Amino acid sequence: MTSIEAKLPNLPPGPDKAYDINTTDESFPIVADYIAKYGNFTLIKPVTRANNTILINDPDAVKAILVKNHENYKKGPGFERVKMLLGNGIIVSDGAFWRRQRRMIQPAFSRKCIDGLAKKMQKANQDLLHSWQKKADNNEVIDVSSETSDLSLEIILRCLFSDDMDKLIAQEGENPFQILTYDLARDIQFVMKFRALKILVQQLMDERRESSKRYDDFLEAFMEGIDKETGEGMSDKEIIDEVMTMIIAGHETGATTLNWAWYLLSQNPAEEKKLHDEVDNNIAADIPTFEEVGNIPFSRQVIEEALRLYPPVWLYSRTAIADDKICGYDIPAGTNIFFTPYYLHRHPDFWDEPESFKPDRFSAEEVKKRHKFAFIPFSAGPRRCIGDYFSIVEMQIHLGTMAKKFKLEYVPDLSGEKGVELDPQVNLRSKNSIMMKLIKR
Ligand code: HEM
Repeated sequence: MTSIEAKLPNLPPGPDKAYDINTTDESFPIVADYIAKYGNFTLIKPVTRANNTILINDPDAVKAILVKNHENYKKGPGFERVKMLLGNGIIVSDGAFWRRQRRMIQPAFSRKCIDGLAKKMQKANQDLLHSWQKKADNNEVIDVSSETSDLSLEIILRCLFSDDMDKLIAQEGENPFQILTYDLARDIQFVMKFRALKILVQQLMDERRESSKRYDDFLEAFMEGIDKETGEGMSDKEIIDEVMTMIIAGHETGATTLNWAWYLLSQNPAEEKKLHDEVDNNIAADIPTFEEVGNIPFSRQVIEEALRLYPPVWLYSRTAIADDKICGYDIPAGTNIFFTPYYLHRHPDFWDEPESFKPDRFSAEEVKKRHKFAFIPFSAGPRRCIGDYFSIVEMQIHLGTMAKKFKLEYVPDLSGEKGVELDPQVNLRSKNSIMMKLIKR
């Protein structure tokens, strides 16, 4: 070996053509193509970015980057629009500032706090149950995609602002945050409208400071949070960025998961029956209590299987701070790393019949047998989703409530000419609304 060869980094194979992967429908099949051609590691040259990208489809590498050596990786490219929306919120920030924000926000997601917030989830589902009962009586076909989107928005807003939401709706004449459900473009106009909402959050904070009323919600937790290391709280701007982060991160992710879960159940009657049996036997009244959520594990498995097949965050990225070596490959400083749960969750080395909907693969026994990092819908390591448990409880309460009363029947004629199609943007949506008939049970 000559001295020049000895110095060459060991990089994975990849295409000659440069390309910048992004959270777009254009990148989605290109990523599949790379994985098919080059395997678990693909090196991609940049077009506009400063450095190469390595696309990773390997659970050992996921563990190495997100857990073992996480300090060497900061958030990567591909989320420029999200950054425009969220200022320096916890999802986009890095380093010491991120650590401080995470320390202050984490307590609001404890089991005890979620027990309290579950009441707001139950109330939202109670209202939705009444609405679905009326629609079922009228033989109406429902648009599950928008029903779950509205529900998820209602829940995150009530968990943030409690009944201050009613005040905002009365003042503005409509729910000012509703643009999140009807304006799906996420373009620059959306960014401007979304930023205008920050003024409303500031107004709520000012009003709360003048009052002695207690709220059991995220806004209260953020306003009162004190960093144990410094004894300081967050500034108003920081609180607002975190509030907006929770709305963006917590709304569409849960909504799309439920959208897919209902669709998958409708296509798999045997699994649907197991869910019906479970909720019939374990939920005493109409709505599952927080304790009962623990008694409906199959509903959780349904959600996990929906997250496997259609992970809302189908692509996310990191950038290496210093040189690293992962699974035998050199990772020079500045390299962008992309993970794609959508493809990893269908990797044939880790998933048997990957295209099939089989919630049983998430039984405790099956989970133990599998590589822990082959399933990463919430990411992993210190930057794992802070709302993972919150959203599982939220989704179990919804599935438990509705599956007890209804069977949802997919109506293909109304759900788009080509059937259900994917729309991979920042979140993995369905291209057309999924339309369903409510059959009373
Ligand atoms: C099905 C539901 C959800 C999914 C699949 C999901 C997925 C994710 C993923 C993949 C990340 C990491 C992204 C990255 O590393 O670049 C993340 C981070 C985050 N998520 Fe979620 N999420 C969900 C629900 C929620 C909810 C309900 C909330 C809040 C109420 C939330 C708040 C956050 C926050 C604040 C972060 C940033 C954490 C940090 O960087 O420290 N998520 N989520």
